Amino acid sequence: MKHLLATDGLDADTATAVLDTADELKHTLLGREVRKLPTLRGRTVITLFYENSTRTRVSFEIAGKWMSADVINVSASSSSVNKGESLRDTALTLAAAGADCVIVRHPASGAAHRLSGWLAEAGTAVVNAGDGTHEHPTQALLDAATLRERLGSLKDRRVAIVGDVLHSRVARSNIHLLSTLGAEVVLVAPPTLLPVGVETLPVTVSHDLDAELPAVDAVMMLRVQAERMHGGFFPSSREYSISYGLSERRQRLLPDHAVVLHPGPMLRGMEIASAVADSPASAITEQVRNGVHVRMAVLYHLLASEGAAA
Ligand code: CP
Repeated sequence: MKHLLATDGLDADTATAVLDTADELKHTLLGREVRKLPTLRGRTVITLFYENSTRTRVSFEIAGKWMSADVINVSASSSSVNKGESLRDTALTLAAAGADCVIVRHPASGAAHRLSGWLAEAGTAVVNAGDGTHEHPTQALLDAATLRERLGSLKDRRVAIVGDVLHSRVARSNIHLLSTLGAEVVLVAPPTLLPVGVETLPVTVSHDLDAELPAVDAVMMLRVQAERMHGGFFPSSREYSISYGLSERRQRLLPDHAVVLHPGPMLRGMEIASAVADSPASAITEQVRNGVHVRMAVLYHLLASEGAAA
């Protein structure tokens, strides 16, 4: 693996190898007082974030540090981006300064792909940490890791992805990865929050959450991305919550073994009731925990394993 830009096109063997490595790393570090491996000693990893983040940025930083890489965080608001420097010049500067890997989050779909082209000559690996409404591949990998832990294999499991699919890079990455790993995906959303071309995706579509819940193995609630809704929010927050929120009543429609996921940050009370988010069926904290091991595995496959970019 040279870069991780998307799950669309990521083959099942590569995805499974990353998930297996994450699992191995998790078990290696379990119960250790000092969680530090020498694997990436001497490597430099830079996170370059043009959008806010808590989980992704912090877990990449921890992942790099637990593998002994030097990790440097650059945020657009406190860098020369604020003086007008372009993404290309910023990326070339980071590569020239010695980055072995740049992890980028950017509001423009396709930004990570452009970066990988600009950094090809330098041999710098690029990880997409979320590009506009396009993809967020490490989120989908950590979701798959969490579902594998709770359900075993993903083969023939049915996963409902619920809510603001239109603006969700998490949904897009999960649709591709889950179907590659053999799961069935049903999108549950109002027609106004589904993307154009949804019929070309490997999914079925429903507008009736109550009807879908009894037949799923997992339900993934999405964040409502108000910051990307420039024309206002339709349906209203109240209508959304009534039709697509995961309430305690709706949770009772799920099979006993079903897992509840949310990528975070979550709007409690609108997308998901607090009691559901904090219930034993919820794997939301495990998702965050697994995010560190999955991101360690991604860095390992990019920088330390045979066939790594550098
Ligand atoms: N799930 C996710 O990407 O969260 P952050 O925006 O906090 O990184």
